[in-house]
Amino acid sequence: MKRICVLPGDGIGPEVVECAVSIVKGATDDLEFVPADIGQAAYEKVGSYLPAETLQLMRSCDSSLFGAITSVEGPEYDPPVLRFRKELDLYANLRPVRTLVQVPNRAPIDVVIVRENSEGMYTQNEVYDDGGVTTLRRVTKKGSERIVDFAIQYALANGRRGITCVHKANVLRASDGLFVNIFREQMRTRGKGLQASEQLVDSAAMKLLTDPSAFDVIVTLNLYGDILSDVAAGVAGGLGFAPSGNIGPKHSVFEPAHGSAPDIAGKGVANPTAAVLAGAMMLNHIGLPESAWRIERAVSDFYSSGHLTTDMGGRHGSKSYTEHILRNLAAQPHR
Ligand code: NAI
Ligand code: MG
Repeated sequence: MKRICVLPGDGIGPEVVECAVSIVKGATDDLEFVPADIGQAAYEKVGSYLPAETLQLMRSCDSSLFGAITSVEGPEYDPPVLRFRKELDLYANLRPVRTLVQVPNRAPIDVVIVRENSEGMYTQNEVYDDGGVTTLRRVTKKGSERIVDFAIQYALANGRRGITCVHKANVLRASDGLFVNIFREQMRTRGKGLQASEQLVDSAAMKLLTDPSAFDVIVTLNLYGDILSDVAAGVAGGLGFAPSGNIGPKHSVFEPAHGSAPDIAGKGVANPTAAVLAGAMMLNHIGLPESAWRIERAVSDFYSSGHLTTDMGGRHGSKSYTEHILRNLAAQPHR
């Protein structure tokens, strides 16, 4: 039996993870769930936001399902998300965004952002001096090659039509230029039948809003992917709709793309869809695609039959959403 490490975290993290776990359980009996502390709860118990025991459990399980953490101010804070991404070598951040419910004044979106997750402007490598702070932003050949390769493999395996490389090589000529050159080379040699295109990150953000159908798979550097995936989520109705997977050669951690949302925490109104779809991505990743497909179906049936979560102006909070999805799952014929 495969084991899943469950990391609820802070804010709405525990609320949406609880829904996701019960829905994953509704789709398969083949998993064992092992809870672990991260964030504030961990700090209060053992004085660390990511205790060594948690990291060890994440390593020993087949995958992890994580909620979110609330960042803490102060120079000595070691962000747990950055740390587990690094320790577990989770170099690829897979962020699919698909319209499930029509959003006023927005065109439908179906985009998969493949974000480099291990280097670039997201490693908190900052050096203070008298005049200010220098942030080191490193782009490597190895890092670029493996993320572009991941995007190509993903696009081919999932029947996508093309990949757009999003960058800022008109200004960051050496670093982003390296990334783009590797993209060109790999698409030429291994992108069999996939359309290759390139776009600067600023205009890509605008185009995601105005013409999302221009994109299929996007491969991009760390910080650009962080920002663009929230833009894409906004087109689909908000952060409650955006799941993500942190994937490496040995380990993986699936999580909603959103944070701990302190503004709505404890009110029972968080949309669990992002966490639930992250659970489905996890099932796909660990070899349970039938159960993953059943969850995706149950979620899209919920919205297509006219139900709305509170973030979309509807009446379904986390609890009633989860009840509906579980009912949809139970009613489903197997594929
Ligand atoms: P956020 O993603 O937590 O929230 C942004 C906005 O989206 C808020 O208005 C929130 O209510 C809404 N929202 C988010 N998830 C939702 C859901 N499931 N259903 C309905 N509405 C939802 O981002 P914010 O406010 O910038 O950050 C809050 C905290 O989360 C910060 O401490 C930040 O550092 C942390 N954070 C943690 C992440 C992680 O654990 N991976 C990722 C992003 C932020
Ligand atoms: Mg983000």
